Amino acid sequence: MESILWVLYILIAMAALKIILISVFFYGDIRAAQKRDPAAKGFFEVLFLYQGLHALVSHRIAHFFYQLHLFFLARLVSQVTRFTTGIEIHPGAIIGRRFFIDHGMGLVIGETAVIGDDVLLYQGVTLGGTGLTRGKRHPTIGNSVVIGTGAKVLGNITVGDNSYIGANAVVINDVPPNSTVVGVPGRITRQDGRKIDSALEHSHILDPIMQIIDEIEKRIDRLEKFNDK
Ligand SMILES: CC(C)(COP(=O)(O)OP(=O)(O)OC[C@H]1O[C@@H](n2cnc3c(N)ncnc32)[C@H](O)[C@@H]1OP(=O)(O)O)[C@@H](O)C(=O)NCCC(=O)NCCS
Repeated sequence: MESILWVLYILIAMAALKIILISVFFYGDIRAAQKRDPAAKGFFEVLFLYQGLHALVSHRIAHFFYQLHLFFLARLVSQVTRFTTGIEIHPGAIIGRRFFIDHGMGLVIGETAVIGDDVLLYQGVTLGGTGLTRGKRHPTIGNSVVIGTGAKVLGNITVGDNSYIGANAVVINDVPPNSTVVGVPGRITRQDGRKIDSALEHSHILDPIMQIIDEIEKRIDRLEKFNDK
């Protein structure tokens, strides 16, 4: 009986130690969640109940194993976390400070993704590759970027600092800093605080069909000028 009690004490002490360590080492991430989620009621709610935080804690451990080339162990931690949180972060992904995943379910972050500081991702976001190429094939996300629910950011592209990716956007080209991108394929609707009118500013359009139309318009202009001569 006494030995069972000892085991119980040890387990409780280990759980308490784990909570203290997470509170200390992930203090910035917990505060970021509190700051960015109006529904978060307190420090302990985030600590115990936010799967975005739990996925991040596991990722830091998985990434540590990955750096030691313990790939199987790293992937094991990542897959168990995927099972418990619905968030799949490849152990190779590099993630900055004060990172917050809100809700989280269905979120995927690829192996060569690089994420800056103060980034916020919502559920259903994919930071993925576009094909079967090897090497750096996932996006680089700058500091203070927000990526809306369901958005797909694909390929070895860069999303500049302070940018917003709208819900359900599909982004396949670089995004300059301080931009807002919406739609499929993503197009810039705001840059440096200025609204971009896509009908007038073709240089800001990421849509390849609009670029073709733009090219055709220019050719017609040239032909008309030629006819007038
Ligand atoms: C993109 C976003 C950041 C808004 O940025 P904004 O600069 O304030 O944009 P505006 O509201 O001025 O909209 C600009 C244009 O983009 C359109 N737009 C906005 N969000 C869009 C989206 N997600 N998809 C497609 N078009 C969108 C607007 O209708 C508007 O079109 P218009 O110029 O033809 O009228 C926001 O709409 C968004 O998608 N946030 C993600 C939030 C999220 O995922 N929340 C999950 C909570 S669980």
